[in-house]
Amino acid sequence: MKLTRRQAVVGAVAGAVGAGGIYELVDQLTGGTPKRAAAAAVPFREQHLLDGIRVVRSNGIEVLVPPLHHEVVTGRVTASASDVRQAQGELESLLTRLDQDYAPSPAGLGVTVAWGLPYFQRLVPAQMQRLLPHDRRANKPVLIDTRRFPSDPPDTRLESNDVAFLLRSDTRAHILDAEQRLRESKLFEFTSIRRGFAGGGFEGATSLPKKMALAAQIPGADLIPETSELFLGFTSTQKAGMGPGPIANFETLGYVDFRGSDYFRHGTHMHLSHIHEDVEAWYINFEFDERVATAFRPNLQVKQDTQTVRQGPKDVSSVTAVRRDYRSSGRIGHSAAIQTTSRLLSDVVAADGTVFPKGTAIPVRADFNTLDNPFAWSERMAEVGVTPAAGVHFVVFNPTGDDFHRNRLAMDGVLPGGKIPFKPRAREQGFNSVLSTTHRQNYLVPPRRHRAFPLAEL
Ligand code: HEM
Repeated sequence: MKLTRRQAVVGAVAGAVGAGGIYELVDQLTGGTPKRAAAAAVPFREQHLLDGIRVVRSNGIEVLVPPLHHEVVTGRVTASASDVRQAQGELESLLTRLDQDYAPSPAGLGVTVAWGLPYFQRLVPAQMQRLLPHDRRANKPVLIDTRRFPSDPPDTRLESNDVAFLLRSDTRAHILDAEQRLRESKLFEFTSIRRGFAGGGFEGATSLPKKMALAAQIPGADLIPETSELFLGFTSTQKAGMGPGPIANFETLGYVDFRGSDYFRHGTHMHLSHIHEDVEAWYINFEFDERVATAFRPNLQVKQDTQTVRQGPKDVSSVTAVRRDYRSSGRIGHSAAIQTTSRLLSDVVAADGTVFPKGTAIPVRADFNTLDNPFAWSERMAEVGVTPAAGVHFVVFNPTGDDFHRNRLAMDGVLPGGKIPFKPRAREQGFNSVLSTTHRQNYLVPPRRHRAFPLAEL
């Protein structure tokens, strides 16, 4: 097959940096692991929360610094229903050894094990019927079938993996070690491997997304701001825009009925999707002010080239505000539209007495940029593109599957109380005109104590 000039160049780069391909560039481009004290990190009851996350200020706004490297391994369970109890013990020992070898922080390794509906339906159906928590607000189970959303292309693949392992660390070797141990366990047939990176130039250095996009010759890479946390130029991990602590746990906001058992308390819901980003179109077709209007909300005045835009509790958009802005501008902003479902509408006192004020964010996002096209590896070779492509492996934790669906619908203009009609991926529909989702699936993340083959022991 005749390679394009870009494939040749990128192939050469990948060749130069060995099998790990383009991602080995990350270490070379970052000068290896940032020297961070591996402070003793505490393993939380929750699997999705990492200890030791740094907070920096960008444009005077508190921002959470994500781990540098990310990977998701999806798989199919090899055990049959009669062997699953045995497999449970083997996986828990493997995970316990990882816990002993790596602190649960960016300096060590964050491991989150999430289980898909196919696992529960095939290997523990009776236990699932009895114990899968129920979402009172939606009158549905907390783990629901994955669906396509209005702005999804018709060929977005709804996946049916049994399990997904989210691996996060500042040291890529820690992730590759965990991947290798999972592979050697023979407990899973890998269905895909998804790799990526996050991390910005918060201290003024050229950011990783910028360096990687340039190295891979992504069209538009030269237009990405030098220190930007993400390909599309805006910081996406400001503290106020991320659910604090246990807010995305099943139990915290009272949406969930545990049906008389604490088995899944401290668990949460995870959504995983892959999204292609048209970086060139974003910077060429959208002036800065329109990028702000698209990413945040219309009519928002922001100084040219600002990357971190305050989205505190007082900046949150209500349905009325989104509709008013739409009437005056004909468009919706990504954050503002989603905020109609992703922020607390009033103060909430959690079961443990913690007060979450009105405007507090709920979802805990763990998304990361990628050059996978769409995957670094897949059992379906058609899903392993030769040419790197800019994108995001989108990972988010919500109190329930329905809560995620509400966020994602709002992103398309389907707000609580009624939708704002847009043609799919219209320019006025937030980010969507430069995004296209290729894959998605919902998962349940059990609490750490039940992370291996949940319900198999019952
Ligand atoms: C490539 C795709 C995406 C990009 C580049 C992106 C980028 C951003 C940015 C820049 C923000 C503002 C961050 C901040 O205020 O700290 C944001 C907020 C957010 N995004 Fe996205 N996003 C993407 C896809 C998605 C998707 C698919 C969802 C699913 C629902 C989503 C959910 C959210 C949520 C919940 C917030 C916080 C809203 C709030 O409460 O303020 N994003 N995103």
